[in-house]
Amino acid sequence: MREFIVFGSPAIEQAEIDEVAATIKSGWLGTGPKVAHFEEDMRHYKGANFAAAVNSCTAALHLSMIASGVNLGDEVITTPMTFCATINAIIHAGAVPVLADVEPLTMNISPDEVRKKITPRTKAIVPVHFAGRPCEMDTLMEIANEHNLKVIEDCAHAIETMYHGQHSGTFGDFGCFSFYVTKNIITGEGGMVLAKREEDIARIRVLALHGMSADAWKRFGDSGYKHYYVVEAGFKYNMMDIQAAIGLHQLKRIDQYWERRRKVWERYNEALADLPITLPTQSAPGTKHAYHLYTILVDVERVGISRDQFLETMTVNRIGVGVHYLSIPEHPFYQKTFGWKPMDYPEAYRIGRHTVSLPISAKLSDDDVSYIISVVRKIVGK
Ligand SMILES: Cc1ncc(COP(=O)(O)O)c(C=O)c1O
Repeated sequence: MREFIVFGSPAIEQAEIDEVAATIKSGWLGTGPKVAHFEEDMRHYKGANFAAAVNSCTAALHLSMIASGVNLGDEVITTPMTFCATINAIIHAGAVPVLADVEPLTMNISPDEVRKKITPRTKAIVPVHFAGRPCEMDTLMEIANEHNLKVIEDCAHAIETMYHGQHSGTFGDFGCFSFYVTKNIITGEGGMVLAKREEDIARIRVLALHGMSADAWKRFGDSGYKHYYVVEAGFKYNMMDIQAAIGLHQLKRIDQYWERRRKVWERYNEALADLPITLPTQSAPGTKHAYHLYTILVDVERVGISRDQFLETMTVNRIGVGVHYLSIPEHPFYQKTFGWKPMDYPEAYRIGRHTVSLPISAKLSDDDVSYIISVVRKIVGK
């Protein structure tokens, strides 16, 4: 039987395995020199002012909310076409998430909808560069500046993304990245915050390690015992050297992996173009897509089978698929807590009910891609 194609399975090479083994043997497993090295490499790659590694993008978003001064009862505008972590980070900072519907083709937050949602309580905007396609950052930054709002970019899909020559995560006050196992480069669990201002990254570092005064991790080094002082109630969000050991090598291959996914993307585009499904819209000029998700739309009226039947048949054919995402207002907790109704966000609702993510990891072989294409064609009846 054909081996199951695990959705988002990462490409991991010998260098990571060796570096992890060396890190374990060194005895310094926790936050240390490898984390500092990874932060510096990422900062350099993104052309950012400051970077701090944490243990997830969720942590990065939560800390960025707090460091933005988002407070009890403030409103934070974001997209209904995102992972629940974006919304939960807003809630955990004590704020109220407010949704602005997406553009039908790009699936990114609509600046016009953002404008409609601004109130005197609005404190921040959280654009999510969905699937790796950049949001309209010129317009969003204009809106933020007009209304004196903080901007926290959710770049979980968007490490390589660029918009008009500028890197994602460097437009706003903060950029939050994920190195979760399915992401473009991985550390297992892991995240990073980029910040424009030094005082912001300094606060993030303190908050990420219990609220202990700066450089608390150095207290076990060879430069003499250092007392630490707790300066606020922080969290346990620090990245370990074991994680950074993986990330350091993954980051070196970021362009190679991006190129591989671009090729897979183009093969899908060519091979599926004649089918009665909707393929991802083309990238806008002057932008770089990170090719994190290849999302098709399956409409029962056109295809003859429902999206959920399509998911089922792909799985039966030993291909792992994803749904990114059921729109946020479909989840019972948010309905109960905020009174959201899916139909109030019609574009996100429609996408959420029709979308399927095909595998696009750098690990896929040409044969895997040919097989996926043949199964999709067979299901759709061509
Ligand atoms: C858009 C988005 N935001 C945030 C996250 C959270 O990332 P992490 O798993 O690193 O916490 C994810 C993860 O899938 C995501 O897709």
